[in-house]
Amino acid sequence: MLNNRTRIKDILSSDKTNYTCTVMGWVRSFRNNQFIALNDGSTNSNIQIVAPLGLLDEATLKRITTGACIKATGNIVPSLGKGQKIDLELRSLEIFGDCDGEAYPLQLKNRPSLEYLRDIAHLRFRTNTFGAVFRVRHALAFAVHKFFHDRGFVYMHTPIITASDAEGAGEMFRVTTLPLDGSAPRNEDGSINFKEDFFGRSTNLTVSGQLEGELAAMAFSDIYTFGPTFRAENSNTTRHLAEFWMIEPEMAFYDLEDNMNLAEAFIKYLIAFVMENNREDLEFLAQRLADEEKQKPQTERGDMGLIEKLEFVLNNEFQRLTYTEAIDILRESSHNKKKKFQYLIEGWGADLQSEHERYLVEKHFKKPVILTNYPKEIKAFYMRQNDDGKTVAAMDILAPGIGEIVGGSQREERYDKLVQRMHEMHIPAEELDWYLDTRRYGACPHAGFGLGFERMVQFVTGMGNIRDVIAFPRYPKSAAF
Ligand code: 4AD
Ligand code: MG
Repeated sequence: MLNNRTRIKDILSSDKTNYTCTVMGWVRSFRNNQFIALNDGSTNSNIQIVAPLGLLDEATLKRITTGACIKATGNIVPSLGKGQKIDLELRSLEIFGDCDGEAYPLQLKNRPSLEYLRDIAHLRFRTNTFGAVFRVRHALAFAVHKFFHDRGFVYMHTPIITASDAEGAGEMFRVTTLPLDGSAPRNEDGSINFKEDFFGRSTNLTVSGQLEGELAAMAFSDIYTFGPTFRAENSNTTRHLAEFWMIEPEMAFYDLEDNMNLAEAFIKYLIAFVMENNREDLEFLAQRLADEEKQKPQTERGDMGLIEKLEFVLNNEFQRLTYTEAIDILRESSHNKKKKFQYLIEGWGADLQSEHERYLVEKHFKKPVILTNYPKEIKAFYMRQNDDGKTVAAMDILAPGIGEIVGGSQREERYDKLVQRMHEMHIPAEELDWYLDTRRYGACPHAGFGLGFERMVQFVTGMGNIRDVIAFPRYPKSAAF
């Protein structure tokens, strides 16, 4: 048996001393041929290993370099030095993996930039920033399941390969085994004959599990999905990925208000979970953000620290208002009048850009906002049509520093109205006949939403770029690793 190690986090979080244990991990630094700082990823704190003079031979000492992987056994004793409470007094050492200090990209003395680390994403987990980010990401994923499980929701795995475009936006990655060299089978009119393709039809990577989720909600009442989602939109922003993870709960017997209540409770639960379970990592990330903010001009700095912001969101109700009310606020804003928006708000019906969303959240209300009842023209076909004939029962949640974090709606459960809307929006009803069956066989009022997982991780960690909260980001012209 090899793995008789003790996790560094467990050693450091206890006051116990005078016992023997074994640690394994990666060397962060080695000074004076005596002091090894070792990290195993369980916490950002390193354990200090003290090698008694003369214990290790010259050759071994040379092999203890930053990045090397070692096993160390010794006694846990109170530390004589400053900065740590305990040391591991070394008795025996084994080197699992050498690391050439000259070549190791994380050897840098200065703090490496996030941009540089993105190019070495395969190694960046070994930095404190990414250690904290990915432990928080894990905690959030765990909390997602706990939240829904505790409320009796059933976790559904919806397909990744699908023939439908749930959002109707046409931003899909095609999935095919047909040749690319022009020899693909053709129809008489020259178009590609997908009947000859692997699935006997044209398929793509899913943009949302919602439509399949609705089918399950019509049997289990409350379900959620949590899986990868793909969008071929050419957006090179700090908020967009081509491959991201989304959580999509779908609830029978919910109207728009029930939906908003659940979404708000969900977001608050996730924040509270991390505040309780990942305090050390949050404090590290708060300090990182504060240091980063100091580099910015005064006017661009946030007025709250990370932890302060999370506490504020936890302790305040989200501001709820309609799209129409939001448009009035934006149109009358001094920002609009002074033409500070890139896209000026001229009238009702305009789609909100992220600059408008952020104005509402960061300047006007200074807290998360839930916008409801958008014009039907700018929303998907499945949203429930309101009696005014103009709007649909949509809801978007906008978060400070992020913009849209949740998109959802009450669904159109009335068969005739749904088919009519699909027709108006050129959604092929015959291909979605299975979806329409839920409206034929025991339909009910229902609602759901989608939370962008990476945007939630950004919000909680304070990371400015979405590419820094997913292990191996996919975005236009980039699919490394
Ligand atoms: O608003 P969206 O497009 O809604 C849906 O997909 C619905 N089917 C959800 C539902 O009602 N079940 O996407 C939901 C959320 C957005 O609010 C955003 O947080 C995130 O998914 N999102 C993205 N995150 C990262 N990169 C992208 N390209 C994203 N597109 C959407
Ligand atoms: Mg949306």
